[in-house]
Amino acid sequence: MNKIYYFYAAGGIIAVISLVYFLLPDQAVGNEKSIVETVMPSLDSRFDKGAKLYAENCAQCHGKTLGGVVGNGPPFIHSYYVSGHHDDDAFYRAVSVGVQAHHWQFGNMPKIESVNRDQAQRIIEYIRAVQLANGLD
Ligand code: HEC
Repeated sequence: MNKIYYFYAAGGIIAVISLVYFLLPDQAVGNEKSIVETVMPSLDSRFDKGAKLYAENCAQCHGKTLGGVVGNGPPFIHSYYVSGHHDDDAFYRAVSVGVQAHHWQFGNMPKIESVNRDQAQRIIEYIRAVQLANGLD
């Protein structure tokens, strides 16, 4: 095989990868713009359910790594959202009735009807665990 073959093969692979990258929505390739950098801990499996529910229902606005999303919603890795400032009830309330914008300029948070109280509890446990790993408690 000659060098030119490798050249075209490499070019082809790059073209395919760029096309896939270009066609996938931002969320799917993980290049949403976070507001803060966060550390993602490796949590044990009892947090799996909460992590999945979070990813499905909250991540689009609060960020896959809880770092917020530019234009969509605030980071949970933030002193506003530690349990001493926004306790778990504030989280249950946010999910069941929504939030009037007051701390930020993202607009209101809609109530999240796809999440019931038990599921909200799982999500809160997950958020608290990630906050802890980022030095917030
Ligand atoms: C469509 C975007 C969006 C989604 C989805 C979303 N949020 Fe929010 N959320 C926001 C915005 C925007 C704010 C900030 C409102 C403000 O204070 O200005 C917020 C604020 C909050 C607050 C703070 C409440 C308070 O009292 O200040 C909590 C808690 C919260 N969200 C939890 C959640 C959880 C849990 C989920 C997933 C089940 C979720 N959010 C999904 C946009 C969203």
